[in-house]
Amino acid sequence: MNRYTEIARAMRAQIGQNHRAEHSIRVARCAELLAMRHGLDASRARTAGLLHDLARLWPASRLLEEATRRAYRVDEFERRNPIVLHAPLGAMLAEERFSVRDPEIAAAISAHTLGAAEMSPLARLLFLADALEPERDYAERGALWELALQDLDAAMYATLERTVAYSRSRGYEIAPRTKAALDTFSRMKGKVSTVSTH
Ligand SMILES: [Fe+2]
Ligand SMILES: [Fe+2]
Repeated sequence: MNRYTEIARAMRAQIGQNHRAEHSIRVARCAELLAMRHGLDASRARTAGLLHDLARLWPASRLLEEATRRAYRVDEFERRNPIVLHAPLGAMLAEERFSVRDPEIAAAISAHTLGAAEMSPLARLLFLADALEPERDYAERGALWELALQDLDAAMYATLERTVAYSRSRGYEIAPRTKAALDTFSRMKGKVSTVSTH
């Protein structure tokens, strides 16, 4: 069994839910495809994809508990929305349980939900793979995926913009890190972000 199959099998056992494990495998495939398309390391992309959601099914109480136990500084947004802690905790579990000691993979997993002001190419493609895998069900998905195959930064901008618009329409709070990410990619595009702090 190769390392990839081994990781996939252990990930499935640890997540313990078919739906979430299948999502992780699709994200790994999409991340790998984007990596190959953009001349990036496909194996790291695959590993990050497989392991990004290890803590996704933990209840809020456990997310807060496990983060605190690891001396992770839970910020105000995370305290109000503990589900987003599954991203930094996923990065920690990848190291603890899978001996993945690659800081770039850790940073990519940490940023896969909210984004971050600074995102490596690996973090960008994981974020996009997670948001745009084929079972995500929203109208713009196909076009955004096509854009991601052409241009990671333009796809980041468009995907973040869509996420923010969607969250606004539902009355959800926008994470400061997501605003920061949108600012970064809007600057790259030479556009001024229209997102205001509220
Ligand atoms: Fe996630
Ligand atoms: Fe995910």
